Amino acid sequence: MMDWTDRHCRYLHRLLSAHVLLYTEMVTSPALVRGGALHLLDHHGDEHPVALQLGGSDPTELAQAARIGAAAGYDEINLNVGCPSDRVQSGTFGAVLMRQPALVADCVRAMQDAVDIEVTVKCRIGVDEQNPADVLPEFLSQMVGAGVERVAIHARKAWLQGLSPKENRDIPPLDYDLVRQMKGLFPNLHISVNGGITSLEQAVEFLDGGLDGVMVGRAAYHQPSDILSTADRRIYGTGTDTSAEQAVAGMLPYIEAHLTEGGRLHQVTRHMLGLFAGRPGARGWRRALSEGAHRDGAGPELVEQALTHITQAAQAQSA
Ligand SMILES: Cc1cc2nc3c(=O)[nH]c(=O)nc-3n(C[C@H](O)[C@H](O)[C@H](O)COP(=O)(O)O)c2cc1C
Repeated sequence: MMDWTDRHCRYLHRLLSAHVLLYTEMVTSPALVRGGALHLLDHHGDEHPVALQLGGSDPTELAQAARIGAAAGYDEINLNVGCPSDRVQSGTFGAVLMRQPALVADCVRAMQDAVDIEVTVKCRIGVDEQNPADVLPEFLSQMVGAGVERVAIHARKAWLQGLSPKENRDIPPLDYDLVRQMKGLFPNLHISVNGGITSLEQAVEFLDGGLDGVMVGRAAYHQPSDILSTADRRIYGTGTDTSAEQAVAGMLPYIEAHLTEGGRLHQVTRHMLGLFAGRPGARGWRRALSEGAHRDGAGPELVEQALTHITQAAQAQSA
Protein backbone atom coordinates (compact mmCIF):
# COMPACT_ATOMS: atom_id res chain seq x y z
CA MET A 1 0.00 0.00 0.00
CA MET A 2 1.60 3.19 -1.21
CA ASP A 3 2.89 5.47 1.57
CA TRP A 4 1.97 2.85 4.17
CA THR A 5 3.83 -0.39 3.61
CA ASP A 6 7.48 -0.95 2.85
CA ARG A 7 10.11 -3.63 3.42
CA HIS A 8 10.14 -3.07 7.19
CA CYS A 9 6.41 -3.65 7.35
CA ARG A 10 6.70 -6.78 5.25
CA TYR A 11 9.44 -8.12 7.53
CA LEU A 12 7.15 -7.66 10.52
CA HIS A 13 4.24 -9.32 8.75
CA ARG A 14 6.44 -12.21 7.74
CA LEU A 15 7.36 -12.79 11.38
CA LEU A 16 3.66 -13.11 12.15
CA SER A 17 2.98 -15.54 9.32
CA ALA A 18 5.39 -17.73 7.39
CA HIS A 19 2.96 -18.48 4.58
CA VAL A 20 0.85 -15.49 3.58
CA LEU A 21 1.79 -13.89 0.29
CA LEU A 22 3.12 -10.37 0.79
CA TYR A 23 3.00 -7.62 -1.82
CA THR A 24 5.04 -4.51 -2.32
CA GLU A 25 3.26 -1.23 -2.77
CA MET A 26 2.69 -0.34 -6.42
CA VAL A 27 5.88 0.74 -8.16
CA THR A 28 5.36 2.35 -11.55
CA SER A 29 7.15 0.85 -14.51
CA PRO A 30 8.53 4.19 -15.77
CA ALA A 31 10.03 4.84 -12.32
CA LEU A 32 11.72 1.45 -12.34
CA VAL A 33 12.90 1.53 -15.92
CA ARG A 34 14.32 5.03 -15.59
CA GLY A 35 16.04 4.00 -12.38
CA GLY A 36 14.38 6.42 -9.95
CA ALA A 37 12.61 3.75 -7.92
CA LEU A 38 15.21 1.01 -7.75
CA HIS A 39 15.54 1.50 -3.98
CA LEU A 40 11.92 0.34 -3.64
CA LEU A 41 13.03 -3.11 -4.76
CA ASP A 42 15.18 -3.60 -1.67
CA HIS A 43 13.85 -6.42 0.44
CA HIS A 44 15.03 -8.87 3.07
CA GLY A 45 15.71 -12.50 2.20
CA ASP A 46 13.16 -13.60 4.81
CA GLU A 47 10.27 -11.80 3.14
CA HIS A 48 9.49 -14.55 0.62
CA PRO A 49 7.02 -15.29 -0.81
CA VAL A 50 6.73 -11.69 -1.93
CA ALA A 51 5.19 -10.19 -5.05
CA LEU A 52 6.29 -6.98 -6.70
CA GLN A 53 3.31 -4.92 -7.82
CA LEU A 54 3.80 -2.83 -10.94
CA GLY A 55 1.75 0.00 -12.36
CA GLY A 56 1.86 0.91 -16.02
CA SER A 57 0.24 0.39 -19.39
CA ASP A 58 3.09 0.21 -21.86
CA PRO A 59 3.80 -3.47 -22.64
CA THR A 60 7.47 -2.93 -23.50
CA GLU A 61 8.13 -0.84 -20.43
CA LEU A 62 6.21 -3.22 -18.16
CA ALA A 63 8.17 -6.15 -19.57
CA GLN A 64 11.39 -4.36 -18.78
CA ALA A 65 10.18 -3.48 -15.27
CA ALA A 66 9.10 -7.10 -14.71
CA ARG A 67 12.56 -8.25 -15.76
CA ILE A 68 14.13 -5.86 -13.26
CA GLY A 69 11.79 -7.17 -10.53
CA ALA A 70 12.51 -10.81 -11.31
CA ALA A 71 16.25 -10.13 -11.30
CA ALA A 72 15.84 -8.47 -7.88
CA GLY A 73 14.49 -11.80 -6.57
CA TYR A 74 10.71 -11.29 -6.39
CA ASP A 75 8.53 -14.38 -6.56
CA GLU A 76 5.71 -12.89 -8.58
CA ILE A 77 4.90 -9.77 -10.57
CA ASN A 78 1.43 -8.34 -10.03
CA LEU A 79 -0.07 -5.75 -12.36
CA ASN A 80 -2.20 -3.06 -10.71
CA VAL A 81 -5.52 -2.45 -12.46
CA GLY A 82 -7.21 -1.06 -9.39
CA CYS A 83 -5.57 2.13 -8.24
CA PRO A 84 -7.81 5.17 -8.77
CA SER A 85 -5.50 8.04 -7.83
CA ASP A 86 -5.20 11.06 -10.13
CA ARG A 87 -1.49 10.66 -10.41
CA VAL A 88 -2.01 7.17 -11.67
CA GLN A 89 -4.82 8.08 -14.04
CA SER A 90 -2.66 10.69 -15.69
CA GLY A 91 -0.14 8.03 -16.60
CA THR A 92 -2.86 5.56 -17.71
CA PHE A 93 -2.23 3.02 -15.00
CA GLY A 94 -4.43 1.42 -12.44
CA ALA A 95 -8.23 1.21 -12.46
CA VAL A 96 -8.71 3.22 -15.64
CA LEU A 97 -7.34 0.17 -17.47
CA MET A 98 -10.57 -1.69 -16.65
CA ARG A 99 -11.73 0.09 -19.81
CA GLN A 100 -8.98 -1.47 -21.91
CA PRO A 101 -8.84 -5.20 -21.20
CA ALA A 102 -7.14 -5.94 -24.53
CA LEU A 103 -4.31 -3.57 -23.66
CA VAL A 104 -4.00 -5.15 -20.19
CA ALA A 105 -3.82 -8.57 -21.88
CA ASP A 106 -1.00 -7.27 -24.13
CA CYS A 107 0.82 -5.96 -21.07
CA VAL A 108 0.47 -9.29 -19.28
CA ARG A 109 1.69 -11.26 -22.30
CA ALA A 110 4.73 -9.01 -22.66
CA MET A 111 5.53 -9.39 -18.96
CA GLN A 112 5.11 -13.16 -19.07
CA ASP A 113 7.42 -13.37 -22.08
CA ALA A 114 10.01 -11.36 -20.18
CA VAL A 115 10.14 -13.38 -16.94
CA ASP A 116 9.96 -16.95 -15.65
CA ILE A 117 8.01 -16.03 -12.50
CA GLU A 118 4.21 -15.81 -12.41
CA VAL A 119 2.44 -12.66 -13.58
CA THR A 120 -0.83 -11.93 -11.77
CA VAL A 121 -3.38 -9.12 -11.88
CA LYS A 122 -5.22 -7.09 -9.28
CA CYS A 123 -8.35 -5.39 -10.59
CA ARG A 124 -11.63 -3.72 -9.63
CA ILE A 125 -15.08 -4.93 -10.69
CA GLY A 126 -15.40 -1.92 -13.01
CA VAL A 127 -15.10 1.84 -13.16
CA ASP A 128 -17.52 4.76 -13.43
CA GLU A 129 -20.68 3.92 -15.36
CA GLN A 130 -19.53 0.46 -16.38
CA ASN A 131 -21.81 -2.44 -15.49
CA PRO A 132 -19.60 -4.81 -13.46
CA ALA A 133 -21.70 -7.84 -14.36
CA ASP A 134 -20.73 -7.27 -18.03
CA VAL A 135 -17.29 -5.79 -17.65
CA LEU A 136 -15.73 -8.13 -15.10
CA PRO A 137 -16.33 -11.41 -16.98
CA GLU A 138 -15.06 -9.81 -20.18
CA PHE A 139 -11.96 -8.52 -18.38
CA LEU A 140 -11.25 -11.88 -16.73
CA SER A 141 -11.81 -13.72 -19.97
CA GLN A 142 -9.13 -11.58 -21.59
CA MET A 143 -6.81 -12.22 -18.66
CA VAL A 144 -7.34 -15.98 -18.90
CA GLY A 145 -6.76 -15.76 -22.65
CA ALA A 146 -3.46 -14.03 -21.94
CA GLY A 147 -2.42 -16.87 -19.63
CA VAL A 148 -3.14 -15.31 -16.24
CA GLU A 149 -3.80 -17.99 -13.62
CA ARG A 150 -4.35 -15.83 -10.53
CA VAL A 151 -6.22 -12.59 -9.93
CA ALA A 152 -7.19 -10.55 -6.90
CA ILE A 153 -10.42 -8.60 -7.26
CA HIS A 154 -11.19 -5.53 -5.17
CA ALA A 155 -14.93 -6.08 -5.01
CA ARG A 156 -16.01 -2.50 -5.67
CA LYS A 157 -15.97 -0.09 -8.56
CA ALA A 158 -13.64 2.88 -8.70
CA TRP A 159 -15.17 6.23 -9.52
CA LEU A 160 -12.45 8.01 -11.44
CA GLN A 161 -14.16 11.39 -11.38
CA GLY A 162 -15.38 12.95 -8.18
CA LEU A 163 -14.10 10.57 -5.52
CA SER A 164 -10.70 10.76 -3.84
CA PRO A 165 -8.54 7.62 -3.68
CA LYS A 166 -9.54 7.25 -0.04
CA GLU A 167 -13.25 7.56 -0.83
CA ASN A 168 -12.76 5.04 -3.62
CA ARG A 169 -11.76 2.49 -0.99
CA ASP A 170 -14.93 2.97 1.02
CA ILE A 171 -17.83 4.58 -0.83
CA PRO A 172 -18.55 2.42 -3.89
CA PRO A 173 -20.48 -0.55 -2.50
CA LEU A 174 -18.82 -3.95 -2.17
CA ASP A 175 -20.21 -6.70 -4.39
CA TYR A 176 -18.79 -9.94 -3.04
CA ASP A 177 -21.49 -11.97 -4.79
CA LEU A 178 -20.23 -10.87 -8.17
CA VAL A 179 -16.74 -12.05 -7.24
CA ARG A 180 -18.16 -15.41 -6.11
CA GLN A 181 -20.02 -15.69 -9.42
CA MET A 182 -16.72 -15.23 -11.27
CA LYS A 183 -15.45 -18.40 -9.64
CA GLY A 184 -18.39 -20.21 -11.24
CA LEU A 185 -17.58 -18.74 -14.66
CA PHE A 186 -13.83 -19.27 -14.40
CA PRO A 187 -13.39 -22.37 -12.26
CA ASN A 188 -9.72 -22.79 -13.19
CA LEU A 189 -8.78 -19.22 -12.38
CA HIS A 190 -7.43 -18.70 -8.86
CA ILE A 191 -9.54 -15.83 -7.53
CA SER A 192 -8.81 -13.84 -4.38
CA VAL A 193 -11.35 -11.39 -3.03
CA ASN A 194 -10.31 -8.04 -1.61
CA GLY A 195 -12.07 -5.12 0.04
CA GLY A 196 -13.49 -4.53 3.50
CA ILE A 197 -12.26 -7.78 5.06
CA THR A 198 -11.47 -7.03 8.68
CA SER A 199 -10.98 -10.37 10.42
CA LEU A 200 -9.47 -13.77 9.85
CA GLU A 201 -12.91 -15.31 10.51
CA GLN A 202 -14.29 -13.38 7.56
CA ALA A 203 -11.38 -14.55 5.41
CA VAL A 204 -12.01 -18.16 6.38
CA GLU A 205 -15.68 -17.77 5.43
CA PHE A 206 -14.74 -16.64 1.93
CA LEU A 207 -12.40 -19.59 1.53
CA ASP A 208 -15.01 -22.00 2.85
CA GLY A 209 -17.46 -20.45 0.38
CA GLY A 210 -15.29 -21.47 -2.57
CA LEU A 211 -12.98 -18.58 -3.25
CA ASP A 212 -9.31 -19.40 -3.56
CA GLY A 213 -7.74 -16.53 -1.67
CA VAL A 214 -8.37 -13.42 0.37
CA MET A 215 -6.34 -10.24 0.14
CA VAL A 216 -6.39 -8.02 3.20
CA GLY A 217 -5.08 -4.46 3.07
CA ARG A 218 -5.95 -1.97 5.77
CA ALA A 219 -6.91 -4.41 8.52
CA ALA A 220 -3.60 -6.26 8.08
CA TYR A 221 -1.81 -2.96 8.49
CA HIS A 222 -3.75 -1.65 11.46
CA GLN A 223 -4.23 -4.96 13.32
CA PRO A 224 -1.47 -7.18 11.99
CA SER A 225 -1.63 -9.71 14.84
CA ASP A 226 -5.40 -10.20 14.49
CA ILE A 227 -5.09 -10.98 10.81
CA LEU A 228 -1.76 -12.78 10.69
CA SER A 229 -0.86 -14.42 14.03
CA THR A 230 -3.00 -17.51 13.52
CA ALA A 231 -3.16 -17.50 9.71
CA ASP A 232 -0.58 -20.25 9.19
CA ARG A 233 -2.50 -22.73 11.30
CA ARG A 234 -6.02 -21.69 10.35
CA ILE A 235 -5.58 -21.03 6.65
CA TYR A 236 -2.59 -23.12 5.65
CA GLY A 237 -3.03 -25.88 8.23
CA THR A 238 0.61 -25.82 9.20
CA GLY A 239 2.92 -24.17 11.69
CA THR A 240 2.33 -22.56 15.02
CA ASP A 241 0.79 -19.25 15.99
CA THR A 242 3.10 -16.29 16.51
CA SER A 243 2.16 -13.84 19.22
CA ALA A 244 2.68 -10.11 18.96
CA GLU A 245 5.26 -10.43 21.73
CA GLN A 246 7.19 -13.00 19.69
CA ALA A 247 7.04 -10.68 16.70
CA VAL A 248 8.48 -7.87 18.81
CA ALA A 249 11.31 -10.17 19.92
CA GLY A 250 11.97 -10.97 16.27
CA MET A 251 12.04 -7.31 15.35
CA LEU A 252 14.74 -6.38 17.87
CA PRO A 253 17.71 -7.81 15.92
CA TYR A 254 16.19 -6.48 12.71
CA ILE A 255 16.01 -3.02 14.28
CA GLU A 256 19.63 -3.31 15.48
CA ALA A 257 20.73 -4.12 11.95
CA HIS A 258 18.68 -1.26 10.50
CA LEU A 259 20.20 1.24 12.92
CA THR A 260 23.69 -0.08 12.23
CA GLU A 261 23.09 0.61 8.54
CA GLY A 262 22.25 4.22 9.42
CA GLY A 263 18.46 3.84 9.56
CA ARG A 264 16.14 5.42 12.14
CA LEU A 265 14.01 3.62 14.67
CA HIS A 266 10.71 5.20 13.68
CA GLN A 267 11.07 3.93 10.11
CA VAL A 268 10.52 0.45 11.49
CA THR A 269 8.37 1.05 14.56
CA ARG A 270 5.72 3.03 12.67
CA HIS A 271 4.54 -0.31 11.32
CA MET A 272 4.44 -1.86 14.78
CA LEU A 273 1.99 0.57 16.40
CA GLY A 274 -1.04 -1.67 15.85
CA LEU A 275 0.59 -4.90 16.99
CA PHE A 276 -1.33 -4.98 20.26
CA ALA A 277 -4.53 -3.37 18.97
CA GLY A 278 -7.44 -4.19 21.23
CA ARG A 279 -5.27 -5.48 24.06
CA PRO A 280 -4.77 -3.90 27.49
CA GLY A 281 -1.79 -1.57 27.40
CA ALA A 282 -2.05 -1.02 23.64
CA ARG A 283 -2.44 2.72 24.04
CA GLY A 284 0.70 3.01 26.18
CA TRP A 285 2.65 0.88 23.71
CA ARG A 286 1.54 3.03 20.80
CA ARG A 287 2.21 6.29 22.60
CA ALA A 288 5.67 5.25 23.82
CA LEU A 289 6.68 4.33 20.29
CA SER A 290 5.14 7.30 18.52
CA GLU A 291 6.56 9.80 20.99
CA GLY A 292 10.00 8.26 21.41
CA ALA A 293 11.04 6.63 18.17
CA HIS A 294 11.82 9.91 16.36
CA ARG A 295 14.34 11.00 18.99
CA ASP A 296 18.01 10.95 18.15
CA GLY A 297 19.66 7.82 19.43
CA ALA A 298 16.36 5.96 19.97
CA GLY A 299 16.95 2.22 19.69
CA PRO A 300 15.63 -1.23 20.59
CA GLU A 301 15.53 -0.37 24.30
CA LEU A 302 12.65 2.00 23.56
CA VAL A 303 10.73 -0.90 22.06
CA GLU A 304 11.45 -3.06 25.11
CA GLN A 305 10.35 -0.22 27.35
CA ALA A 306 7.16 0.26 25.33
CA LEU A 307 6.45 -3.43 25.73
CA THR A 308 6.28 -3.04 29.50
CA HIS A 309 2.91 -1.30 28.98
CA ILE A 310 1.60 -4.59 27.66
CA THR A 311 3.26 -6.87 30.23
CA GLN A 312 2.24 -4.67 33.14
CA ALA A 313 -1.35 -4.46 31.90
CA ALA A 314 -1.45 -8.24 31.58
CA GLN A 315 -0.05 -8.63 35.13
CA ALA A 316 -2.60 -6.16 36.47
CA GLN A 317 -5.39 -8.11 34.82
CA SER A 318 -4.33 -11.44 36.21
CA ALA A 319 -3.70 -10.03 39.71
C1 LIG B 1 -2.79 3.99 1.90
C2 LIG B 1 -3.19 2.95 0.91
C3 LIG B 1 -2.38 2.68 -0.17
C4 LIG B 1 -2.73 1.71 -1.10
N1 LIG B 1 -1.87 1.41 -2.10
C5 LIG B 1 -2.15 0.35 -2.92
C6 LIG B 1 -1.20 -0.11 -3.86
O1 LIG B 1 -0.07 0.40 -3.96
N2 LIG B 1 -1.55 -1.15 -4.65
C7 LIG B 1 -2.76 -1.77 -4.55
O2 LIG B 1 -3.04 -2.73 -5.26
N3 LIG B 1 -3.67 -1.35 -3.67
C8 LIG B 1 -3.38 -0.33 -2.85
N4 LIG B 1 -4.30 0.06 -1.91
C9 LIG B 1 -5.62 -0.59 -1.88
C10 LIG B 1 -5.61 -1.84 -1.02
O3 LIG B 1 -4.67 -2.78 -1.50
C11 LIG B 1 -6.98 -2.51 -1.03
O4 LIG B 1 -7.30 -2.88 -2.34
C12 LIG B 1 -8.08 -1.61 -0.50
O5 LIG B 1 -7.67 -0.87 0.63
C13 LIG B 1 -9.30 -2.44 -0.12
O6 LIG B 1 -8.94 -3.51 0.72
P1 LIG B 1 -8.99 -3.42 2.33
O7 LIG B 1 -10.39 -3.06 2.69
O8 LIG B 1 -8.58 -4.80 2.77
O9 LIG B 1 -8.02 -2.37 2.73
C14 LIG B 1 -3.95 1.02 -0.96
C15 LIG B 1 -4.77 1.28 0.14
C16 LIG B 1 -4.39 2.23 1.06
C17 LIG B 1 -5.29 2.48 2.27
